[in-house]
Amino acid sequence: MTMTTNKETKTNIFNTIKNDPEFFIRRCKSEDLDDVIDVNEKELPEDYPYFFYKSILDDFPECFLVAHNKKGKIIAYIMWRVEKAPSVNSLKYINKGHLVSIAVSEGYRRKGIAKSLLSNSMTAIKKYKIHEYVLEVRVSNYTAIRLYEKFNYKIESIKKNYYRDGENAYYMTLDAKDF
Ligand code: ACO
Ligand code: ZN
Repeated sequence: MTMTTNKETKTNIFNTIKNDPEFFIRRCKSEDLDDVIDVNEKELPEDYPYFFYKSILDDFPECFLVAHNKKGKIIAYIMWRVEKAPSVNSLKYINKGHLVSIAVSEGYRRKGIAKSLLSNSMTAIKKYKIHEYVLEVRVSNYTAIRLYEKFNYKIESIKKNYYRDGENAYYMTLDAKDF
């Protein structure tokens, strides 16, 4: 990687393994949000209004990442928020990193983009001093469940009727010190 004093460039480029990579990972910018929303609307039934994405980007920019192809087209995203929650065994509050959403455009699946987005963002979100990673996933979403299991997330409980169409969610968690 070239050294540069440009902060934007330095913080936005993540390590890429290959010499001629098919995709690139960097932090999301406001200008990317319309493209992120396009990916979301094509790939997931859970849609959110623009201001929701914008507030997540404003509040937790370190761990809102996108992948783009060689032409600069946005092909995937991941976004997290940090939540304060009471700890199970004390009166203290702890920070949880909550995976809000990840999606990869259909034509770019199975190339390791999701793995790369997850690992880079899970490292980045540690800056917010989280104790645990948490997420919900449709019980029928075999592909995504496999992905999370690769990172050692475990099913902690089932949230009944979690989705608007009535489907249940698995609540999956991973201790921050296990990543
Ligand atoms: N069948 C079985 N396992 C799969 C498949 C598949 N078709 N695709 C991915 N996986 C698993 C594998 O374990 C894979 O690792 P491997 O290739 O070493 O075997 C691992 O996931 C990671 O594969 P990636 O190539 O990194 O995953 P990809 O970039 O294809 O993205 C994703 C996976 C995000 C689940 C993608 O299929 C997608 O966008 N799906 C639609 C949106 C979605 O379901 N998002 C998750 C919703 S839950 C939430 O957002 C909290
Ligand atoms: Zn959630």
